[in-house]
Amino acid sequence: MNIILLGPPGAGKGTQARMLVEKRGMVQLSTGDMLREAKDSGTEMGQIVADVMARGALVTDEIVIGLIKEKLETVKANGFIFDGFPRTLAQADALGDLLEAEGQTLDKVVEMRVDDEALVARITARSTCAACGEVYNDQTKPIPADGKCSNCGATEFKRRADDNEESLKTRLMEYYKQTSPLIGYYYAKGVLSRVDGLGAIAAVQGEIKAVLET
Ligand code: AP5
Ligand code: MG
Repeated sequence: MNIILLGPPGAGKGTQARMLVEKRGMVQLSTGDMLREAKDSGTEMGQIVADVMARGALVTDEIVIGLIKEKLETVKANGFIFDGFPRTLAQADALGDLLEAEGQTLDKVVEMRVDDEALVARITARSTCAACGEVYNDQTKPIPADGKCSNCGATEFKRRADDNEESLKTRLMEYYKQTSPLIGYYYAKGVLSRVDGLGAIAAVQGEIKAVLET
């Protein structure tokens, strides 16, 4: 089964994708994570995207479609979770073509709904484990008291360069202008389901599970 987690910045896409990987053995394809890796390892592409990402604007379709194409052609998986991709109608069309070329289908698109105020609070309180990427939140999922990541035991945590109110405004605007039209696009294709992303992490997980099992 191949699914998309669709939602604004801070909706909980990465958090839920990691839980699906653990429970279902699916493979998470997060274009945001891939781009941050390229940036951190200092590749030419990473240098090109660093400024764009820090501002909260979208990287070109060509770059992100290229990243996804390479993964779909090389990674064998018991289902993919697309996290943060597609983000434009052009990316959605490209994903459809790429899956078809691999003899695969897109089975579910899960729209995660969260209101803007909650998004700001979530994003400004987020940190991630520098070693494994486990996602934490100062309020809702604090780093364990012993200072060690609950997933891998590492002790270094980082905050993202785009997790500030200024960049978040741009990220939200990009979401409403460029990505939210995908809700209608996938509704028309008959694959869209909605979950309430405002609930607790476990409650959202339960709603996604129900969607995937219907
Ligand atoms: P990307 O990395 O995809 O960021 P994003 O879409 O802005 O989403 P986030 O990762 O910020 O949020 P999330 O939904 O994963 O939430 P999380 O689970 O972390 O993209 C970054 C940038 O890369 C883009 O701005 C763009 O520049 C570029 N880019 C990436 N893909 C691209 C593409 N396809 N095309 C063009 N450009 C692209 O949770 C957030 C916080 O909330 C955490 O602290 C978490 O612990 C907490 N939390 C999660 N769920 C809950 C809950 N239910 N209740 C309470 N707290 C919760
Ligand atoms: Mg994410």
